[in-house]
Amino acid sequence: MKSDSIADIESRVKSRPLPRHVGIIMDGNGRWAEAKGLPRIEGHREGSTSVQEVTRSARRVGLEALTLYAFSSQNWARPADEVAGLMDLLREYLLKEREEILDNGIRLSAIGELDKLPRYVREPLDALRAESEKNRAMTLTLALSYGGREELVAMARRVAEKAAKGELEPAAVSEALVDATLWTAGLPPLDLVIRTSGERRLSNFLLWQSAYAELYFTELLWPDFRAKELCDCLTQFQNRERRFGQTSAQVQALPIRRAVS
Ligand code: FPP
Repeated sequence: MKSDSIADIESRVKSRPLPRHVGIIMDGNGRWAEAKGLPRIEGHREGSTSVQEVTRSARRVGLEALTLYAFSSQNWARPADEVAGLMDLLREYLLKEREEILDNGIRLSAIGELDKLPRYVREPLDALRAESEKNRAMTLTLALSYGGREELVAMARRVAEKAAKGELEPAAVSEALVDATLWTAGLPPLDLVIRTSGERRLSNFLLWQSAYAELYFTELLWPDFRAKELCDCLTQFQNRERRFGQTSAQVQALPIRRAVS
């Protein structure tokens, strides 16, 4: 029997309500390489190809936002040659993908302690963020030197600074204010978090934002996760019932059932 093309699969996914914002913890590059007797950096390189393919597919199906956990605050503690290899790959990616990102109306964004990145990554990153600022088809956010706790600390510090200056009453601190003060301000609510490689943890990724996100774990290693696998996750999401604290009967009775928050 002939198997469906990726275009058929994507068009089926597109015909049903989609998550607005998907976050991915791209795990398993090192194991992928080690299983093939290759240096770990080759796993990261193949993982970059997955980044390209998954981003293309996300754009084709019409996700509003895709956030990729590319380098955590804790990843600085890895061996220096692996950190340097990852930084080289990031620079390469930003230079190589620039045209495609711009041609496809994608806004490139980044969250994390970006001032910790070396200048040879920071420069192409800042340039592409500025060049793509007005694009609206999809926001691709790279979480770089990112940690959810670090983000919450930065948010708390900004709120405290405003209060200390008399610009903010404690009673005015609300969920909306926290949302607007986080690095992810302006992004749609996070609807789905995907983690590859069989691990079942959030590992400091979008801690506040994932409060009501659906979680999807797959055994596949990130270099083996491509457009088809993204569509499988989206299909699973479309078959789940999101209740936001209500009962199933209440959700069923809503006049319009939406798959998004
Ligand atoms: C986790 O796998 C992955 C990372 C720490 C880096 C992710 C980076 C990429 C996918 C490539 C570069 C990114 C972009 C945006 C071009 P791991 O090394 O922890 O895997 P392991 O658990 O098998 O060792």
